[in-house]
Amino acid sequence: MRSFYVTTPIYYISGDPHIGHAYTTIVADVLARTARAGGEARFQTGTDEHGQKVADAAAAAGQTPQAWCDALVPRWKELFALYNVQYDDFIRTTEPRHERVVQAVFEKMLASGDVYLGKYEGWYCVDDETFWPQAKLVEGKCPTCGRAVQWLSEDDWFFRLSKYTARLKEHFRAHPDWVRPRAVYNEMTAILDEGLEDLSISRSNFDWGIPVPQSAENISGKAVIYVWFDALLNYISALDWPDGAQMKQCWPANVQLVGKEIARFHTLIWPAMLWSIGEPAPELVFAHGWITLEGEKIGKSRGNAVDPFALAERFGADSLRYFLLREAPFGSDFSYSEEKIVQRYNSDLGNDLGNLLRRSLSMLAQYRESLVPPAVSGELAGRFADLGPRVRDLILRLQFREALEAIWELVTALNRAIDERKPWVLYKEEQGADLDALLYELCEGLRWLAILLAPFMPERAREMWAQLGAGEAIDAGWETALRWGGLAAGTLTTPGDALFPRKEPVR
Ligand code: MSP
Repeated sequence: MRSFYVTTPIYYISGDPHIGHAYTTIVADVLARTARAGGEARFQTGTDEHGQKVADAAAAAGQTPQAWCDALVPRWKELFALYNVQYDDFIRTTEPRHERVVQAVFEKMLASGDVYLGKYEGWYCVDDETFWPQAKLVEGKCPTCGRAVQWLSEDDWFFRLSKYTARLKEHFRAHPDWVRPRAVYNEMTAILDEGLEDLSISRSNFDWGIPVPQSAENISGKAVIYVWFDALLNYISALDWPDGAQMKQCWPANVQLVGKEIARFHTLIWPAMLWSIGEPAPELVFAHGWITLEGEKIGKSRGNAVDPFALAERFGADSLRYFLLREAPFGSDFSYSEEKIVQRYNSDLGNDLGNLLRRSLSMLAQYRESLVPPAVSGELAGRFADLGPRVRDLILRLQFREALEAIWELVTALNRAIDERKPWVLYKEEQGADLDALLYELCEGLRWLAILLAPFMPERAREMWAQLGAGEAIDAGWETALRWGGLAAGTLTTPGDALFPRKEPVR
């Protein structure tokens, strides 16, 4: 069966991870968890370990690049575990399974004539690992990050990118949604209209990389493959290109998530590389915006990194996951602020959701000894019958904020049902049937919420599930799980600690 395949960029391992790295990985996790609730899915992430940027960071720490990477990879895995990220594969570009594929691709392109020997003269930005011709510099600096560039004059191997310009243009024309959001699509077509130059894909003035294969006639005898050429191939090396079973099951990827600063590599260079080796382009490259701090992209080299470990400790990893996906429409930049996190935490999570669970279960304890009454199918069941497919579609279209808003319609409706139907009055007036009906709707509605929120807040959703006594199957397919009446009469619920204990506002 064809598997849904979602990837994150592989992260430069030039230091500790920051909140921006957690962001893309969490988004991919939400997608993968949703896709898994309806079929097969594969979610891949990893680390980009070669190149000058990593080599420089290792040297500054007085370590070999390999030792440096080996020491840091556990930090990244720890971060992803802390944020309840469930990837299927974590690839490191220093692994033999990856190096083998990169060399094989290089050789295949050499044989077809798409790789040739030439001379590179121009500038290089180490921070972005990018070649820049003189004409592209902005006031002599890197046009992407604004840092100083270095002059290179080398005999290098080149990839015949220019040859694919026409095919790229046609691909963009025929698939207007393959790059999203629209602004990035437009930016990429504008670059295409200017025309593409062949790309240098080797470096000979330093050596932390995958060696150019020996079959290639190697000028300096020690050239290594350009880090971006190496890194992009992670998406298929982990599938065991060319003939691995995973390759057949997963390629082309359904969604490749990237930050907007690396859209160019993924939408212009990457498809051309794939076509050169006879593979199709991914179905969708989604270039999301940045988390910013005082208007600037958060990043290690800018020195404004926000520590995701400390944040998870303070607010809980799931609350952060919620915040990151709820705060802005996916695709746009948004500014990071602790005030906003605390505000959303206390209002959406603490008041709306946490209190709903607490109030419902404590009324059930008070009026019905914590036992779920017989199922009823009232007005709410009808109104929300299509909520599952709606939320699923929104998530798979990467409209996470809208998906959470749709889920919150149910949260609001349940809170309103309590306020309007006043269970304490029903109890006092001995309207047992109405009280049963309301309590059932609350518990069943909460069960739905736990299922729908599980991709966003897997750990908190499980806690809701446990308090509801709903059984083992929170991960069962949505199609069967989201049928009204799933919570059996007589189920014993167990009110527990507050889901989201209140936090003091930031002053
Ligand atoms: N190694 C390359 C990618 C190679 S993919 C074949 C790279 N690595 S990176 O460590 O610099 O970060 C990559 C990704 O981290 C970005 O594309 C983005 O997804 C995420 N982010 C890094 N900083 C970010 C923010 N401030 N905000 C949101 N996402 C950010 O580029």
